[in-house]
Order: sequence, then C-alpha cells, then structure tokens
Amino acid sequence: MLWPPESKSSEVKIRSHDKGEHMAKKRRLSWAVMVDGRSIWTLNAVPKHSQYGESLRKFRGEEYRRWDPTRSKLGAGLSRSRQSQYELLPNEGDTCLYLGAGHGTSISHLHDHVCGANNEKGGRIIAVDLSPRCLRDLVHLSTLRPGLVPVLGDARKHSAWGIMVANKVDWLLQDVSQAGQAEIFIKAVKRFLKPGGKGLLSLKAASERFSEGGERQVFGQVREQLESAGLTIEEQIDLHGLEDNHCLYFVTN
Ligand SMILES: C[S@@+](CC[C@H](N)C(=O)[O-])C[C@H]1O[C@@H](n2cnc3c(N)ncnc32)[C@H](O)[C@@H]1O
Repeated sequence: MLWPPESKSSEVKIRSHDKGEHMAKKRRLSWAVMVDGRSIWTLNAVPKHSQYGESLRKFRGEEYRRWDPTRSKLGAGLSRSRQSQYELLPNEGDTCLYLGAGHGTSISHLHDHVCGANNEKGGRIIAVDLSPRCLRDLVHLSTLRPGLVPVLGDARKHSAWGIMVANKVDWLLQDVSQAGQAEIFIKAVKRFLKPGGKGLLSLKAASERFSEGGERQVFGQVREQLESAGLTIEEQIDLHGLEDNHCLYFVTN
C-alpha cells in the first residue's frame, strides 16, 4: 500500500481516455461510480492522489480512480453482483457505518460516492476498527476526506463507541474476518441500521469453525442465521476468484 498518501509515489501518471475509444461500454452506477467494461471507477474526491496504488484516469476532464476488486470486498461485490449492482451502494449524502475499516482502501471509494470532494454531498462514514495502526491511517485519511469519522473500537462492544452513532444509519457494512461474524453483524444491524436500511456482511469462511461441509456449509449456515434474525437476503454474492473463501451478503431489515 502507498502510504502515507502524500508520498511522491502516490502521485501517479494520469491516463486520458477523453478520446473515448475505451469508453464504449461504460455506464454509471451513481454520480461518482462508473463501470467501464469489467472495471469500476470512482470520481476522485482528492485529485491527483492515488490511495493504494490504484490507477487514475481522466474522462471528460474529471479524474477517476480504478476500484481494485482484489483489494476490496465491496469492490468485489460490485463486480460480481448479478441482481443488485445498482442497489449495493448507499445513496450520496447517506450516513454509513463501516465495521472493520482496515486502512481505508474500500472506504476511500465509498467516500468518493457518499461524500465527494470536500464532502459536497454532506455524507458521513463512521469507520470503526480495533487496530491502532489502522486508526492512524484512517485519521490521516479523514484529513483529506471530510465526512469520514474514524473510531477506535471493537465491533462487538457497542457500549464503548456506540455514542459516536447518534442516529440510526442508512447503510452498514461489516468486514471483520473473525469468529462469530454473523452474530456480530446481526447485533450491529439491530442496534444501528434504520428500518429499510441496507446491510452488507463480508464473510470469511476460514474465520469460522469449519464443519465437514467446508465453506459451502458455512455460507449456508450463515444465510440461515441471517434469515432467522428476520433479515431479508437480497443477494448472496460469492467472491471466489477475487476474494477467495469470502461471500458477501446483501440484506435489508
Ligand atoms: C479484512 S480487514 C478490512 C479491510 C477493509 N474492509 C477494506 O476493504 O479496505 C479486517 C479489519 O477488521 C478489523 N477487525 C477485526 N476484528 C474487529 C473487531 N472485532 N472490531 C473492529 N475491527 C475489527 C481488523 O483490525 C482489520 O483492519
């Protein structure tokens, strides 16, 4: 990862596709998210800055960043979704809760879409992680990306940081790769997600206790757990090939 972001190496050469020959298959998922063939791009809220080594390019004078689906479960989910590609993301200006924020790879693209440059869309992304190292990177990212609120906390212990989430959120994503992922997600959804809100659970099968049926069985058991908790599964997206051993559940409550 290129970090800190002000390092010279993060200033990458910008390719221009203004002539349009590579843009024939492009379509928009939102004002800031564009699909071009098999690649997804977001309108860069911090121009000339590459967050994690992703390529930049200009289209009609505006700079986009390539969303690498092998570095982001959300990016992989968008690439692989067959039914919900237009629904997986929150709306611009929404309030979002992200559990397991890591170093901010996915969050940077989410921010391009929810907040935009200088938070022109008025969005808010509350980014929780229990690693102080990740928090340091997220705090730095938040200075470049207003609307991003880093929180040092354990997704299992709402009492320690729940006060940072003043109102229920529109969209919640969890990517914590630790045992008990479904239970942690269900509790978070019940406490923090608005009725009718969107929830995304990135599940790593290897983090759970394996049963004889391997990852297929784990994915099936988690599906049942989510349904038993009263959540509607809009799509279960297998990320195999982009994020092996992972499945992304898109639910509504
Ligand atoms: C796979 S990484 C997240 C990557 C990030 N979602 C992305 O796409 O850019 C998992 C993160 O979850 C964090 N984590 C693990 N258990 C956690 C917990 N109980 N509460 C909060 N964060 C946790 C780890 O510190 C790690 O940064």
